[in-house]
Amino acid sequence: MDAIRIRGGGPLRGTVPISGAKNAALPILCATLLSDGASRLRNVPALRDIETTAALLRFLGRDVTVLAPEVHVAAGSSVRPEAPYELVKQMRASVLVLGPLVARFGRAKVSLPGGCAIGARPIDQHLKGLEAMGCTIRLERGYVVAEGPGGGGRLRGSEVYFDIPTVTGTENLMMAAALARGRTTLVNCAREPEVEELGRVINKMGAEVDGAGTDVIHIKGSERGELAPFDHAIIPDRIEAGTYMVAGAIAEGGDVTLEGAELSDLEALVVKMRAAGVEVASEGQNIRVRRSGPLRAVNVTTAPHPGFPTDMQAQFLVLMSLARGESVISETIFEHRFQHVPELERMGATVALRGNTAVVQGVEKLYGASVMATDLRASASLVIAGLVADGETEVRRVYHIDRGYERIEEKLRRVGAQIERVKGAES
Ligand code: EPU
Repeated sequence: MDAIRIRGGGPLRGTVPISGAKNAALPILCATLLSDGASRLRNVPALRDIETTAALLRFLGRDVTVLAPEVHVAAGSSVRPEAPYELVKQMRASVLVLGPLVARFGRAKVSLPGGCAIGARPIDQHLKGLEAMGCTIRLERGYVVAEGPGGGGRLRGSEVYFDIPTVTGTENLMMAAALARGRTTLVNCAREPEVEELGRVINKMGAEVDGAGTDVIHIKGSERGELAPFDHAIIPDRIEAGTYMVAGAIAEGGDVTLEGAELSDLEALVVKMRAAGVEVASEGQNIRVRRSGPLRAVNVTTAPHPGFPTDMQAQFLVLMSLARGESVISETIFEHRFQHVPELERMGATVALRGNTAVVQGVEKLYGASVMATDLRASASLVIAGLVADGETEVRRVYHIDRGYERIEEKLRRVGAQIERVKGAES
């Protein structure tokens, strides 16, 4: 398994290009199932999760060509509306094929994702919504088997209330509703920019989506029961941008410009970074991050968008581990999302974990160590810690990073980091 080796050093300076958003590209790739024509996605990041989704779409019978940063998807000669455990266990977002498959083919069999490194992550809200649209749902040997009304018929527009806002749940039901007969209203939706982006694509395909990005979404399903293919360029990845914002601020003197990043998608992080003493400015299509003084301790609580993103919690915690004073970081979205903490403690961070809260006492310095993480954002946080740690840090099991950060070593080297990939390191 590959590892990433970092020699801690001075501040980062320069420009980092931001890739297309992974969590926007995944549902949009699944939306291609709603149409039989040839769709083209542009600005798709070259990531393992994209490859996994391409493999899943091929298994389902689609013709998929990945020519990063483009992906082309067309209907193949046959359809197999079934997502096997082998693929779903590699990537939980595979559940995003459930809504499109049952809406398009009247039937879907999708493996239950099971628990994962950051929590239990049930899909009850997805299933409840599909049932409201007339589906019959059975659980069979670890699989969800969903059937349209009357044994495979067209879904019916309906009203669905989410007990908690769920990103992929909202996306799954938006896609199902796009092919349903009549109107669907989704209430208490996730408001993430990636949900809004999917709404734009479904509109391009010919269904009518109104309110994506707010907590109530109305969808008028296609009258003819079919949707057109699309050509679409994916929005920039706000979490990748946020990660490089923290990387730019981790050492005093840092001055990093993120090319093609959207500040308005990152308001909560920006406010907290500024409160911590980091300068953040929007410069045209770019975000510039500078730090010239000490870091101040700031508290954060993760929340659904537009709250502070859980996907930035680990990286921000690293920043706070070097701030003056005590900060309290609360995680309200996933129950096991502090796996970076014991690894950071091995690098010299002082953190007390109490349930879903981490109390961080800032220290003067972190020290290089051999560390490992079991999820994507936690791994990224360890890389950031390594950038300023004294000596050498080896982050193992980097396949987690490859799921969500395109060419991370190359991008960090551009701004002066001493970082390299070690092929086939010990796991
Ligand atoms: N939940 C339920 N029932 C459901 C669905 C969700 O109880 O039916 C709970 C979850 O357990 C969690 C909360 O609702 O406590 C929110 O989960 P959500 O469904 O919104 O998460 P997700 O859709 O599975 C997406 C991102 C994650 C990101 C979360 C939260 C994609 C492909 N994944 O996951 O991204 O952390 O939203 O913002 O969009 C990542 O990129 O590293 C990543 C984990």
